Amino acid sequence: MGKIEIQHLTKDFPNRRRNARPGDDSGLQFGDRIEVLRDIDLTFDRGEMICILGPSGCGKSTLLKIIAGFENPSTGRVLIDDKPVCGPSSNHIFVFQHSGLLPWMTVWQNVGMGLRHMPGNGQRQEKIQEYIDLVDLTGFENYFPYQLSGGMQRRAELARALAVNPDMLIMDEPFSGLDFLTHMKMREEVVNMHEFIGKTILLVTHNIDDALIMGDRVVLMSGRPSEVKLMRKLAFEHPRNYEEEPELNELREELYFMLGVSYAV
Ligand SMILES: Nc1ncnc2c1ncn2[C@@H]1O[C@H](COP(=O)(O)OP(=O)(O)O)[C@@H](O)[C@H]1O
Ligand SMILES: [Mg+2]
Repeated sequence: MGKIEIQHLTKDFPNRRRNARPGDDSGLQFGDRIEVLRDIDLTFDRGEMICILGPSGCGKSTLLKIIAGFENPSTGRVLIDDKPVCGPSSNHIFVFQHSGLLPWMTVWQNVGMGLRHMPGNGQRQEKIQEYIDLVDLTGFENYFPYQLSGGMQRRAELARALAVNPDMLIMDEPFSGLDFLTHMKMREEVVNMHEFIGKTILLVTHNIDDALIMGDRVVLMSGRPSEVKLMRKLAFEHPRNYEEEPELNELREELYFMLGVSYAV
């Protein structure tokens, strides 16, 4: 489960700016349509980890929201397992860019949120513990979000998303705001988790190395109106090291260049 087909998808928004920014020569008037996504055609296989890259403001979050059913496309459609998306579903869990934990609930209660309708209390308790253990938060069950570090909060969010047992996980810049080391560890954890649970994961990132280290497939979007600029399958074993994999390193340089950095750092 979790095959995604995006067909001839476009999205535009009305311009909400009454006065143009200084230097803005687009000639857009209030209420004019701004084309954000243009004719996106993509197919992802079930179980894949797909990483989407693109410049800021190009429409990555918009694309995720359309796939998750929070936004409607202007034209075109999205099929998940051959069924058109027509609204949000608990089979497709969204992990937001900023923390979505409920601050008045403990880790245990937050993870249990998605399981509150599960019959059988014993079984429910077992499931909650299983996912808390999976993200390595054992011992922190009774902590509130404010008592956890940023990385631990993200892991708790991940546990909550996984506990619902969705077919698909949709993550919008899940590592944003984390310090360097926590970011690296979380990345490793998501890769391990993906190998373990084998679900389709759609992940937006602005970090080229994240996409190369994690993705089974990398998609690069262009600036607005956003089109697919590059799509590449990455059939490399984990853990990956682009310094030892010439093909990966070449793609890395290509991606940096396409995003406007003329040499890879
Ligand atoms: N609900 C909305 N109404 C009007 N414009 C929007 C709305 N949502 C997003 N946009 C515009 O669409 C563009 C793409 O936004 P977004 O998808 O958040 O970009 P990204 O995630 O790639 O940074 C931006 O210019 C943003 O201002
Ligand atoms: Mg975004």
